[in-house]
Amino acid sequence: MIIQPMIRNNICMNAHPGGCALNVQQQIAHVRQAGPVTAPKRVLVIGASAGYGLSSRIAAAFGAGARTIGVSFETPAKGSRTASAGWYLDQAFQKEAGAAGLQHKSIIGDAFSHQVKEETIREIRSMMEQVDFVVYSLASGVRIDPDTGEMYRSTLKPIGRDYRALSLDSRTGEVAEATVPAATEEEIAQTVKVMGGEDWELWIKALQAGGVLAPGAVTVAYSYIGPKLTFPLYRDGTIGRAKDHLEETARSLDTVLRESGGRAWVSVNKALVTRASSVIPAVPLYLALLYRIMKEKGLHEGTIEQCLRLFSEKLFTGEEPPVDSLGRIRIDDWEMRQDVQDEVERDWEKITVETLPLLGDVEGIKEDFLKIHGFGFPEIDYSADVEVSS
Ligand code: NAI
Repeated sequence: MIIQPMIRNNICMNAHPGGCALNVQQQIAHVRQAGPVTAPKRVLVIGASAGYGLSSRIAAAFGAGARTIGVSFETPAKGSRTASAGWYLDQAFQKEAGAAGLQHKSIIGDAFSHQVKEETIREIRSMMEQVDFVVYSLASGVRIDPDTGEMYRSTLKPIGRDYRALSLDSRTGEVAEATVPAATEEEIAQTVKVMGGEDWELWIKALQAGGVLAPGAVTVAYSYIGPKLTFPLYRDGTIGRAKDHLEETARSLDTVLRESGGRAWVSVNKALVTRASSVIPAVPLYLALLYRIMKEKGLHEGTIEQCLRLFSEKLFTGEEPPVDSLGRIRIDDWEMRQDVQDEVERDWEKITVETLPLLGDVEGIKEDFLKIHGFGFPEIDYSADVEVSS
């Protein structure tokens, strides 16, 4: 089959297996070039098939030689439909890890469910007895409560008042204005239920109860703050409430884990184009400005660079990681640098359909968006026939 990108509303409906494999190979090459990473050797990544989770797994496996178990929710190819990008990315990880002699296991299923937690615990026991490092990197729009069966949905809405936001179409590069209505109390609560820390805590408790969390184990979950410009939709919006909850969970888990010498952290990461961030209004536009400015200053990083810096300069240096006043690790430090944010704010005021191509790195955003789905790699011949079930 010939696979060209099919994009609707900033969501790419298909993926290219060869391009996804190249994406993984390039991340691995980057890790190898960067040199060995000090990190634990038995690692569980929840949300391992894409974005920050995939890069965390690659950094741990190829940088530190870790045995890894990755949990993700992806769909295989069916008939003429390609598999999801994360499916191909995960397949590629497995192939490369196998070739490098790195022990690995991928579990595809709903991480929110009891069954997947139980299956993971069984796999940990048989493959590595215990885990020393748990990365929680889920981004999901829905969660089914494992006890009640009730389905919760996360929304990306402002709180208290409607918000008029400029948005960027990652495919065409066009700017449009849209009003995002204020969230209801119910929508806030549902978003916290999906993207807050409840499931992370359930995972850590299940791993402890199953006897597979090693004494001294470290866990990290990923959060985001961003600039004031995106506060109405992000940090002061529904997703921000969920992140507040996630960060509170880190503090309570940290108290529990310290009893056995372990730690729980939240790392605030840099804004990047991933499947999750592309659908947040205003964020792709901010990303376009941010990418240009950070690239000009030689500060731009992707998920793999972020994860390497997190592991080697913050989490596993042998010292207490540096944290902010709320106890969070800040790997968004370069994004939030005053000079970077001053420029973003200055240019934000000037954005129009006409000025955006000059002010923002729209091409960089489009390129990243395509690449996370395996498209836009000059090395790949997209007119060639490919096997979708690979
Ligand atoms: P992503 O969309 O690239 O990856 C999400 C992962 O979660 C995938 O592996 C997917 O399979 C998995 N997943 C989703 N639902 C699942 C389920 N029910 N069961 C099992 N696996 C499931 O997302 P991204 O952007 O890497 O986000 C990961 C975390 O990083 C999120 O907490 C996000 O808020 C945070 N973050 C993201 C930033 C960004 O700019 N993309 C910036 C800072 C933090």
